[in-house]
Amino acid sequence: KPLEGTLLFIFGATGDLAKRKLYPAIYSLYREGKLSDKFAVIGLARRPKTNDQFREDVKQSIAEFSRYPNDEDSDWPAFAAHFEYMSLNTNDVEGFRELEKTAVGLEAEFGLSGNRLFYLALAPELFGQVAHHLRDGGLLAGNGWKRVVIEKPFGYDLKSALALNEEIRNVFEEKDIYRIDHYLGKEMIQNIEVIRFANAFFEPLWNRHHIANIQITSSETVGVEDRGGYYDNSGALRDMVQNHMLQMIAMMAMEPPSRNVSEDIRDEKAKVLRSLRLYGSHEEVAQHVIRGQYGSGAVKGKNVPAYRDEESVNPASTTETFVAAKVMVDNNRWAGVPFYIRTGKRMPVKSTEIVVEFKGVPSATHKAQQHALEPNLLVFRVNPMEGIYIKINAKKPGTDGVLVPVAMDFCQSCQVGWNTPEAYERLLHDAIRGDSTYFTRWDEVSHAWAFTDRIAEAWSHDEQPLHTYEAGSWGPDAAHGLLARDGFKWWPVN
Ligand code: BG6
Repeated sequence: KPLEGTLLFIFGATGDLAKRKLYPAIYSLYREGKLSDKFAVIGLARRPKTNDQFREDVKQSIAEFSRYPNDEDSDWPAFAAHFEYMSLNTNDVEGFRELEKTAVGLEAEFGLSGNRLFYLALAPELFGQVAHHLRDGGLLAGNGWKRVVIEKPFGYDLKSALALNEEIRNVFEEKDIYRIDHYLGKEMIQNIEVIRFANAFFEPLWNRHHIANIQITSSETVGVEDRGGYYDNSGALRDMVQNHMLQMIAMMAMEPPSRNVSEDIRDEKAKVLRSLRLYGSHEEVAQHVIRGQYGSGAVKGKNVPAYRDEESVNPASTTETFVAAKVMVDNNRWAGVPFYIRTGKRMPVKSTEIVVEFKGVPSATHKAQQHALEPNLLVFRVNPMEGIYIKINAKKPGTDGVLVPVAMDFCQSCQVGWNTPEAYERLLHDAIRGDSTYFTRWDEVSHAWAFTDRIAEAWSHDEQPLHTYEAGSWGPDAAHGLLARDGFKWWPVN
């Protein structure tokens, strides 16, 4: 059913995120009838631009990044008419009063009832100020809901995240704050709950009695690209682990929610994040967390420079571009089951996968007693392929007692004509509908920072090794040692 009207405010309208993700997402929602005709978009950024120029930029971004490029069904002029641009200096509350007038005008023009979604695709330093100016500029008064969508990073550590949260909470209630973790918008991440809880094959086995370990890999081939300024102050721990990696652990480890509603699901995730075992000493960090930084090397046949030689990166930088860690979830279900995570830039492939390795069966009772049995695996393929596969042991045809692992593969993204919505599309749609299930609540964010802060603190002391790994490799050897010590290995990523 079409949504009631919404006015979308895109702060950071000339930025990369808006271009790559937000405009294509708005376009897909529109094209699929999920926005109806009752919407308008105000693009906001500092630099002056006419409406026509802005619409041209939006068009370009759709041509380049949309999953409907060169769309023959599109009625471009009708779509473009919903977009307006206004130059805004976020320091100046006067500009916000102007913005209020523009907003009221657009609401009258498009028959909107006052629902407003403020999307802050901005540097986090500006979140608090923008929130206050929205209120003081009169943009939060009147009919309809007012929601704010906030991009990561949500703070730099627990302390700064707390301060940031307080600033935003001065203006918005928690229920109206939508903190983005775009991994939660991915099809297969949302599918974890269904695979786990809706299948008799898995639901009863999902615990320490049957699962040996869980491995989560998120690898990228790109380096720091042109984001050196941001990334060199952040590193993989803050950029990937604090949010995406820990959120994936939460989805894998959470208890079944008692009701299928947003708050119950988020309660269960928060409980997992609160149960993460905090590393108690620098020594424990050194033992359980490996950090690396890429040197030069070749990725997909192309020579690439070392991290320290990248633009806007300090030539003596000790920022990590790779993290592997052994994470324990201290609750009853997961006692003794390691969650291994690894993420890095300049690795051989771009891939996100979650592998569940099951415990072995008593081998004396079957024909394979002379053979080492491979464990059963359940693999969630999140990206670039979407699907699951299961590795089971079967008899090799035509032999007596020779067992081979065979894969049962369901490749969802291989289905012809299957053009799944992008994460941002789903999340934007959810925010407009008021469904916050796949956004991170404050308690989740704060528990996650409490976990990573211990690591960051230990790393701020020089005695902790920073391994250099060759670009195009799977990271430092120490990341293999992490599992080998426990008698496990990283399963190859597809
Ligand atoms: C972002 C990080 O949150 O996630 C980036 O800031 C990273 O550094 C990106 O490249 C990875 O997302 P995806 O969806 O491409 O796996």
